[in-house]
Amino acid sequence: MDRIRIVGGRPLNGTIPISGAKNATLPLMIASLLTEETLVLDNVPRLADVGQLQRILGNHGVDVMVSGKRPGERELDGQTLKLSAARIVDTTAPYELVSKMRASFWVIGPLVARTGEARVSMPGGCAIGTRPVDLLIMALERLGAQIDIDAGYVIARARKGLKGGEIAFPKVTVGGTHTALMAAALADGTSVIDNAAREPEVVDLADCLNKMGAKISGAGTPRIVVDGVPRLSGARHSVLPDRIETGTYAMAVAMAGGDVLLEGARPELLQAALDLIGGAGLNVSATNAGIRVSRNGAGLAPVEVATAPFPGFPTDLQAQLMALMCCARGTSRITETIFENRFMHVQELARLGARIHLDGETATIEGVERLRGAPVMATDLRASVSLVIAALAAEGETMVNRVYHLDRGFERLEDKLGRCGAEIARISG
Ligand code: EPU
Repeated sequence: MDRIRIVGGRPLNGTIPISGAKNATLPLMIASLLTEETLVLDNVPRLADVGQLQRILGNHGVDVMVSGKRPGERELDGQTLKLSAARIVDTTAPYELVSKMRASFWVIGPLVARTGEARVSMPGGCAIGTRPVDLLIMALERLGAQIDIDAGYVIARARKGLKGGEIAFPKVTVGGTHTALMAAALADGTSVIDNAAREPEVVDLADCLNKMGAKISGAGTPRIVVDGVPRLSGARHSVLPDRIETGTYAMAVAMAGGDVLLEGARPELLQAALDLIGGAGLNVSATNAGIRVSRNGAGLAPVEVATAPFPGFPTDLQAQLMALMCCARGTSRITETIFENRFMHVQELARLGARIHLDGETATIEGVERLRGAPVMATDLRASVSLVIAALAAEGETMVNRVYHLDRGFERLEDKLGRCGAEIARISG
């Protein structure tokens, strides 16, 4: 298993190209199931999760062609995927595949909308919490699907097609909103989604569906209206930049010091996070080319924040912020309100010398003068990258084990940081 070795203490200077967003790419790829024509996606990041979803979609009959491995200076550009689901050959998503990636459960919406039937394994719990799918099931029921649960599988049937309906989510859910959007796009009649997720990835999916011929309005607001259409066509769509990757590298610069252009990043996708770290002491400025972040080595101020659905501070940046606050001058408080168990990074950060006290959903972080390198390991993607951020400032060597978590969501992490002066290397095997 690969590891990443980091020796801390080097500032970051240069340019980091921001990749297409993982969490937009996954639902966009799944949307290819809605049409027999070809969906072309540009700016797709090269990530393990993208490869895994290609295999899952292949099982349903989607042909995927990949291009975009250009030589020379364009090598950091995203790839182009051409997805063609001319014929759905299998409407079952088996446990072996769904258990590897939770988002693959979302195939249930397009499959039942297009073929009248889907049989998808329940995804089960994961490292960050129980993560149920009850609200996704509720959304499909509101659209007229008949749901049965049998032997760990959710079976959705709508022999005569889905019907427009009213879906009011009691809690904001990104996956629930994606599922409702994709299913309602092909339903007969008008659907209204209330308390919809407003995340930029939801807007990106709605934009792409509209290019495919869907009639969706209000994406990005809490009330989305979908006028169902009988069929969707192919389209070409470029994936929006990854706001979590952007925020992660901004925090890396805040931690290590230096001056970096986050190329292609869009500030409006993560304003709450930029305001917060800006207030803590990072210089942040929007330019035509992206977002420029710099820190001159002065101390960081502590923060108090709770994670919240968009436009609030994202749960996917909570671990990274906590790593940063380990070195702030004073005591920070970070509350996690989205997932009940997203604190696995706490004990690993403690191995580096962090002083963090957990009380329910709130972590209190007492800034320390200096972190010290150590071997560490994390059990999810964002927790793993928080350890990389801490290591960039820690004295001596940190070895981050189980790098496959990072490969799920960060394209060429060691390459991007290494080009800006970090002492970082992947050790194979
Ligand atoms: N929830 C339910 N019932 C449901 C669905 C969700 O109770 O049927 C709860 C969840 O347990 C959670 C809350 O609602 O407490 C929000 O979950 P949501 O459905 O919004 O999360 P998700 O769609 O499963 C996506 C991202 C996550 C990100 C969350 C929140 C993707 C592939 N995943 O997950 O990203 O943390 O939204 O923004 O888009 C990551 O990239 O590391 C990651 C975990």
